[in-house]
Amino acid sequence: MPGDVEHWGRSTDLAVLSRLVEVRELSLIDVGCGAGALARELAARGATVLGVEPDPVQAARNREAPEADGVTLAEGRAESLPADDGSVDGVIFGRSLHHVPQAAMRPALAEARRVLRSGGFLYVLEPVMEGAFSAVMKPFHDETEVRRQAREALVDTAPLFAGAREVHYEIERRFASHDEFVTLFSGLSYNSYGADAVRSETVKRLFEAGRTEAGDYAFEQPMRVDLFHTAPG
Ligand SMILES: C[S@@+](CC[C@H](N)C(=O)[O-])C[C@H]1O[C@@H](n2cnc3c(N)ncnc32)[C@H](O)[C@@H]1O
Repeated sequence: MPGDVEHWGRSTDLAVLSRLVEVRELSLIDVGCGAGALARELAARGATVLGVEPDPVQAARNREAPEADGVTLAEGRAESLPADDGSVDGVIFGRSLHHVPQAAMRPALAEARRVLRSGGFLYVLEPVMEGAFSAVMKPFHDETEVRRQAREALVDTAPLFAGAREVHYEIERRFASHDEFVTLFSGLSYNSYGADAVRSETVKRLFEAGRTEAGDYAFEQPMRVDLFHTAPG
């Protein structure tokens, strides 16, 4: 990827995002927003956020969720964003690009470029398939290949943008118990693996390796942000 590569060490997704972009008074699209947690955080920081989620089960839950100032959650897909050309300050893919079908990844990134105004940004947050947390996930949900495909699509799309930064950091995934882990990963409607796979003995053994002295469970997850800017107008 053209652009600088930076290593920021242990952090959180929100701390990194806040350090890279000032979102106050910006209009943003959170693509593949899931339950909209990031959209709500960004709105609390003064942005106006449209969260787009294609999974019909999650989109229906979002319609029933309490409203939040500055946040609209809609059913839709990365490949067809409900926004005019050049109308948005920032587009964010939070752990969602590798979920877009491979054939649609490049069109989805071009679609993000379409809706961005001059001087706007594309922020792509992806987990790196390494570290202790990925080791626990891999037996039931190995995303190595789809994350590689997402990375290739990003590299191919970089020429649409004027500038790029690449930031690597590590987050900690913490769980009070194995039950909490199983409940979380069995309840994600956009994933296709079965709950039995999450509960398997192999996964449980890998999970137990993350037990801390305090009795909860902690796992390191490496993350990468690719931040692109469009040329100023
Ligand atoms: C790992 S979840 C991330 C959810 C949320 N952004 C977060 O960080 O918690 C991946 C999301 O990508 C969504 N997704 C899958 N295909 C998509 C597509 N074609 N366009 C947009 N989002 C998509 C899924 O429905 C899911 O909500």
